[in-house]
Amino acid sequence: MLALNGGSPLRNSAFPSWPIYGAGEEEALLAVLHSDRWFLAEHTERFERDFAAFQEAKFGIATSNGTTALQVALSAIGIRPGDEVIVPAYTFIATASAVVASGGIPIFADIDPDTYNISPQSVANAITEKTLAIIGVHIGGCPCDLDALSTLAADHQIHLIEDAAQAHAAAWKGRRVGAIGHLGTFSFQASKNLCAGEGGFITTNDEALAERAWSVHNCGRSRTGAWYEHPLIGSNYRISEFHAALLLRQLERLEAQTARRTENSALLTSLLHEIEGIAPMGEDERTTTHAHHLYIFRYQAESTGLARDRFIEALCAEGIPCSSGYRPLYHEAAFTTHFLDSSLSSPYFQGRPDYSGVSCPVTEHACAREAVWLTQNMLLGTADDMRDIASAINKVLTNAAELL
Ligand SMILES: Cc1ncc(COP(=O)(O)O)c(C=O)c1O
Repeated sequence: MLALNGGSPLRNSAFPSWPIYGAGEEEALLAVLHSDRWFLAEHTERFERDFAAFQEAKFGIATSNGTTALQVALSAIGIRPGDEVIVPAYTFIATASAVVASGGIPIFADIDPDTYNISPQSVANAITEKTLAIIGVHIGGCPCDLDALSTLAADHQIHLIEDAAQAHAAAWKGRRVGAIGHLGTFSFQASKNLCAGEGGFITTNDEALAERAWSVHNCGRSRTGAWYEHPLIGSNYRISEFHAALLLRQLERLEAQTARRTENSALLTSLLHEIEGIAPMGEDERTTTHAHHLYIFRYQAESTGLARDRFIEALCAEGIPCSSGYRPLYHEAAFTTHFLDSSLSSPYFQGRPDYSGVSCPVTEHACAREAVWLTQNMLLGTADDMRDIASAINKVLTNAAELL
């Protein structure tokens, strides 16, 4: 009998907890405490150098979080009121709200049904004379199609920003993400594969963009200018030394953790391929490292007869925590109401921005009926943990009639 109906859950033990830390992290935090230098000092400098190098970027700027990293990146490329920025409809709100916070208009593109990443065709259809940039999100840690997006950006002379908040260590055709587009942004918020509670980062290979981003993140100062000299309008988007010190220690763990997630997700994918009604996400051979911030799989209610949300409830009851993930961003009141009294005019909307007519069918299907998310910490478990996930799915689907 299913656990949801009073049967015993398939699994009673917890998956690995997150975050993971030890004596190294404790030492690092205490060292900052006793240094009396709590901002803009050696740990920030070292982390900026080390994480930029890790992501194979020439320049790196640490920020207070991934949202401010996006805002700084948009400011660095010179966003102006009314500029259009194309973002996926399937992402965390920050990708799009950072555009609004910077005075721009987010234009939502649909996603690819195999990867849930922004669809280059949908981006191409959304480009207008006011498009300033494309933000490609590496959703769940899976690199988006950086070849097609780079070509679109070059053809239309617009910027490509990689929102790599979920994609530490991810690689596209053998090169780590973050500086393949003009700029990349990262988050170190508590759930992320590299985390310090809060924190963010900007990567780029373009020295002029790096200088602008550095200035914007530090109150519009210049590296060579006086403390009270402000050539640009910026704000305080800096990280603290405590966060940087913690991140330096966490970075030492990232490669081994990524390898473990890769190994476990490969096993899980092979097990899920055997289950009717479950379709693992597609794989693109150009993705050489998937960061597996999320393990997403596609649930096919038309084949199982059981609605996705009921399936999720049943799987949670069996001891496998999972969720349905995002909702289409353009339905959120944050966007539908924000521009109601705006004087901005957008070529994409042929007038005032109005999301009521936006439709991204692949996003809507993923959000309403198809996507199931497992979190990255579950992939740090054992091979038996992966077998438990597959067995619990099998149990729910075999006994689905109990729930109909
Ligand atoms: C895709 C994406 N972009 C941006 C962010 C914003 O990062 P933060 O929470 O650090 O502001 C997140 C994470 O929360 C995210 O998942």
